[in-house]
Amino acid sequence: MLREVALGLSKPQKELPSKYFYDHRGSELFEAITELPEYYPTRVERAMLTAEMPALLRELRPASLVELGAGSAAKTRIILDAMRDAGGARCYVPIDVSASFLNETAVRVRAEYPGLLVDPVVADFAERLPLSDQLPHPAVIAFLGSTIGNFTPIEAVRVLRRVAAAMAPGDRFLLGADLRKDLTRVLAAYNDSAGVTAQFNLNMLRVLNRELGADFNETLFRHRATYDGSLHRIEMHLVSDGAQTVCVPGAGVFDFAAGETVRTEISCKYDRPSIEHTLAAAGLRLEQWFTDPAADFALAVAVQADES
Ligand code: AVJ
Repeated sequence: MLREVALGLSKPQKELPSKYFYDHRGSELFEAITELPEYYPTRVERAMLTAEMPALLRELRPASLVELGAGSAAKTRIILDAMRDAGGARCYVPIDVSASFLNETAVRVRAEYPGLLVDPVVADFAERLPLSDQLPHPAVIAFLGSTIGNFTPIEAVRVLRRVAAAMAPGDRFLLGADLRKDLTRVLAAYNDSAGVTAQFNLNMLRVLNRELGADFNETLFRHRATYDGSLHRIEMHLVSDGAQTVCVPGAGVFDFAAGETVRTEISCKYDRPSIEHTLAAAGLRLEQWFTDPAADFALAVAVQADES
């Protein structure tokens, strides 16, 4: 973490990895975001999973569900219910960087699905995907919530290559991606009127202060979210209110000019061609494509590209 923070704050455009949003408070703030009227992705994706999973999984009858970035597992239940109803659900492998949230999730899912083997893995799937070779197949590997948007397209391909390498014939990759749309609505989703997204963004400074003993002053930074139309992505920044110096023990002392920003997140928006392209570059092939009526969000189902 120290190394990543030191590296990010030394760049001309300062940046911090968005995974550091998600301490306990950050995870709660994200849950609150998902309930905001302006933040459509979670609601739309949940409705789509509810509509599509039963038929899809009846056909597939998966033995395992692997979930990248499991979070609170609210959507997981929709998939696990459909798996159970299809018969066969044996194993659930949630993978997340945040051990505390992951373990809470595991305890709850175990209680709700007796007989299901819940085998959480604490890992940063941006770096590795440590899956057991004992994983029962067929497996569904789910990467939901538009988390893929937090990666640049090149990084996304790297993550999906690891997914493809972990898949066996007959397995499916299930991807939830936010789609390109009207600017006003996408901007509103990251600039909510209640200011929850601003709190979520600023929470990263608290995380760095607590975890690394940094001395960020939360009151001297402001939330900003903009859309880059050429890169098709939201960028979240923290804007320095004035000139200031921040010390991160062991990483260095970092100067912020007035108005200088640190980028805390990108959230890339896709369309069908860009999803197909990203999948193909990772050795995956789009098999099924679902969107909601407003085409706000997509669920993509993919197989290994060499599978006929
Ligand atoms: C959970 C990463 C998908 O990019 O929309 C919500 C996080 N950031 N509001 C997203 C987020 C600001 C979210 N993801």
